[in-house]
Amino acid sequence: MGVKIIGLGASIPLKLVTNEELSKVLDTSDEWITTRTGIKRRHHSSLNETTSYLSYKAGIAALKSVTQADDSDIDTLIVATSTPDRRCPATAPKVATMLGLGKIRAFDINAVCTGFVYALELADALIRSGKSRRLMLLGADVFTSILDKQDRTTYPLFGDAAGAMILTNSDDDNILSTYTGSDGEYEHLITIPDGGTESALRLDGVSKNIFFKMAGKEVFLKAISHMKESVSEVLNLSGLTKEDVDYLVPHQANKRIIDTLTQFLDLNEDQALMSLEEYGNTSAASIPITLARHVKAGTINSGNKIVVTAFGGGITWGAALLRWPDEKINADLI
Ligand code: ACO
Repeated sequence: MGVKIIGLGASIPLKLVTNEELSKVLDTSDEWITTRTGIKRRHHSSLNETTSYLSYKAGIAALKSVTQADDSDIDTLIVATSTPDRRCPATAPKVATMLGLGKIRAFDINAVCTGFVYALELADALIRSGKSRRLMLLGADVFTSILDKQDRTTYPLFGDAAGAMILTNSDDDNILSTYTGSDGEYEHLITIPDGGTESALRLDGVSKNIFFKMAGKEVFLKAISHMKESVSEVLNLSGLTKEDVDYLVPHQANKRIIDTLTQFLDLNEDQALMSLEEYGNTSAASIPITLARHVKAGTINSGNKIVVTAFGGGITWGAALLRWPDEKINADLI
């Protein structure tokens, strides 16, 4: 049994924030942000654009993108997020209800920026085992909800978004291999120190340090080495080589990291597909929104072999090797 990609969609909040606008309220500049990261703009959620709402919209876009006539219902919904609507319960059941999918299996997973790759591996296993026939997975994050607006080392880097993919069981196979890993020894590199059980027990329920923190330089080096390792693993697992890869769709955190991976895979710059200049780092949403953007633009086509890879808090990392389906997918970003 194979796993086929049949739907793809994304949702981006309306409010656009440029580097120039940020430079007016923070000690930063368009020049610093552009040269250090490649980011020019990002979109910020307004009042009602929560993780569930962006997920709902991305889910609608993905459902509309399906072109194959088939009457199977979605039986599973996974939301990869580290910014759920509420700490309890998970966001996925609410999204399933908003989408009118009925009383289906629905749950969140949290691997921070690697969330979509973790969800993809899990989705692949659920379908191959026969537990699920048709599944929607979402990468959705509203990182502006956990950032300190005064912190120039994090606030300019992130944007809000959601991306959705629909998978089904099939004789075709579009997921050729997946690989994930983690190392909890480095949890302090990407973290919100307080607000969980650790601080609740220690601080008697008073949260002191509830903003997102990242040790940029150390994360930079670890991101490169673990994404290289992940890409090599998925190639080995599928029996393919670098020469077989048409496109790289990496987590969109930093263009300098993406350039290093592009060279590692012996690809041209235009084979490394990007969205960070427009949307910034959208955490778990970054891979599906980049895929949706380039499917919509016609860059990604039938039969293309695509390596997706990510790195994030945990620390976590992973990759998947995709073969783009033969049937058209009308992907859209709404
Ligand atoms: N504007 C101007 N100056 C700044 C800014 C800013 N926005 N941010 C930092 N600086 C300053 C620093 O204070 C520092 O100044 P100093 O030398 O006087 O101390 C100087 O610029 C250099 O700072 P670095 O942190 O060393 O800059 P670096 O080149 O490493 O870039 C960055 C920082 C962009 C964060 C980079 O390290 C990076 O992209 N890291 C990886 C991020 C990543 O991959 N994340 C993925 C996972 S994210 C997740 O899971 C949610």
